Formats: sequence, structure tokens, C-alpha cells
Amino acid sequence: MKHFIHLKDIPAKDLRKILIDAKKRKKKRFKLSTLQLDKDMPLKGKFLIQMFEKPSLRTRLSFYLAIKQLGGGTITLRSNELHLGEGGESLEDTAKILSTYADGFILRTDKDDKVDNFKKHLSIPIINGLSPSSHPTQVLSDMFTVEEIKKKPISKLIITWIGDSNNVLNSLLAASVKFSFKLNIGCPKKYQPKKHVLNWAQSQNKKIYVFNNVKKAVMNADVIFSDKVISLNDKVNKKNKLKDFKKFKINKNLMSYAKKDCTFLHCLPRGSEVDDTVFRSKSSKVWLQALNRVHVQKSILLYCFGKLG
Ligand code: CP
Ligand code: NVA
Repeated sequence: MKHFIHLKDIPAKDLRKILIDAKKRKKKRFKLSTLQLDKDMPLKGKFLIQMFEKPSLRTRLSFYLAIKQLGGGTITLRSNELHLGEGGESLEDTAKILSTYADGFILRTDKDDKVDNFKKHLSIPIINGLSPSSHPTQVLSDMFTVEEIKKKPISKLIITWIGDSNNVLNSLLAASVKFSFKLNIGCPKKYQPKKHVLNWAQSQNKKIYVFNNVKKAVMNADVIFSDKVISLNDKVNKKNKLKDFKKFKINKNLMSYAKKDCTFLHCLPRGSEVDDTVFRSKSSKVWLQALNRVHVQKSILLYCFGKLG
């Protein structure tokens, strides 16, 4: 049994193993429709519980399809439907019950220590479905999408992030260490990654390039990633933050500084950080990116259930 909480804590060879499995499985079900099962049904009889304390469209649906296609089943809960919290039931007892009924647990929460506490008390694997400090399932899937589009290992590419130093960037930064690609970050000075995040990269002998000049950040990029400037439950002054990011909007002019065949990716949902012409352009592969989450998360589940060999 393995947990899937932060990319930085998962060995690079395991992450690569997940991507290899996802590629094989995606290819095999080319002709199958959405709810047809993978022939081998490796998670037949397995039950996954998903709990979301924040909104989600993609993560919850892609995990629903992922476990279904592998032969298992799932239910999605909102935390306010449980006794945990207002009803006074402890996290420890909740975890015990989850472990009694289910085989795996996905949690999206505003508290990193809640993920850690569940991990401590569960006897089944936990998957981080987004926390303040990371969004690992999104970013591992994005590695898959980049390699699928570019048809080469991501280690040979220049990846640029334009946006806030948020959970998705933290995971992307961890991925740049695990998959050895060059990562440029473009953001206003005030919104640079936290010191401890950059220090971690440094401790892994990884140089991360941070630019406050957006054009410099995208120079020669093979892929530009972005995300909403204001994250879910971001407690900042939204108006001021959006103003601070005004020069960091991704438009056609900015894309012209990147490589000619530069791909635009965005985890979604989007805000005003990218203009419509780029978002709807041929360079934008956001729909494929969202779809691939089903494929990669299937292999993440197999990894957690100890079925990846
Ligand atoms: N990208 C992503 O995680 O989307 P949701 O918030 O809709 O799950
Ligand atoms: N950074 C965003 C990602 C949403 C999928 C957030 O945390 O809201």
C-alpha cells in the first residue's frame, strides 16, 4: 500500500512507472467507450471514497471514471455530510470507519495537516486531491500530457510557469526535480515561491529560474503552464492581486517569445490570466490535459493499491 500525497516524497522511478502504465492503458482502451471496463479489471471489487472540502469538477469526475474503468466503485462525499467537524466525531474515528468500509481515500482540503492526520490514522491509501501546498495528481498527469504532445521526454524541454506560487506550481517544481526538466517561473516579485520551496529545490541540486519579467520567463519555452491568479479560498485582496499580475497575462504577443510550437496548458478552471485567443488557439491543449487525468489517475490508483509491480 502506498500513499500519494506530495510528488517530492515519491521516488522518481515510481512516478515514471505510473506514466508508463498510463500510456499502455490509454492505448489499449482506444476503442472502448467511457464506462467500458479495462479488460483486466485490476481493481475489481475495490471501493474508493472521495471527500471534497472545496469545489471540484475535474478531479472528482476523473477519479470516478478512473476507478470505474479499473473495475471498482466510488462515492463522493462533502465533509459537511459527515459527523467530522460540526458533529464532533474525531478524525481518528472517521479514519477508522473509512478504512473499514473502503480500500482507498481521496481528500481535497484546505489544511495540509488534515491530509497528514488522515494518513496517520487510515489503514488504506490516501491520495491528495489538492491541498494548500500541492496538487500532485494534476501535475503528474500534466507530465504525461506534455510527453504525449511533444513526443519526447520532458527532460529535453523548457517548461515555463506563469502565475502565482501556489499548490500547482509547488507540484510542478517537485516534478522538475523528479523528471529533470528546466523550469522557468514568471511572476511578480511579491508572489515568488516561498523560501522553503526554493531551498528544497536547491537541496536537490536543482536550479529554478525565477523571472519578474514575463517575456524573459517565456523565452524559448516549449510549454507554458498557467493557473488562476486567485486560488480557491485565497484570502488575499483579490482586486490588488489581479492588478499586480496585469503584466503577466498570457496573450498572443507573449506567446511569440516562446518556441514556435509552444504548447499552452492550464489545469483549469481559468480566470483572466490567459486571453481567449490563446486559450482557444491550436497551441492550447487544455481539453486533452483534462482528459488525461482519467488515464494517469488510473495508474496512480494501481500504484497505491500495490498493483503496479
Ligand atoms: N484542475 C482541477 O483540479 O480541477 P477541479 O478543481 O475541477 O478538480
Ligand atoms: N491553484 C488552484 C488549482 C485549482 C485546481 C486552487 O488551489 O484553487
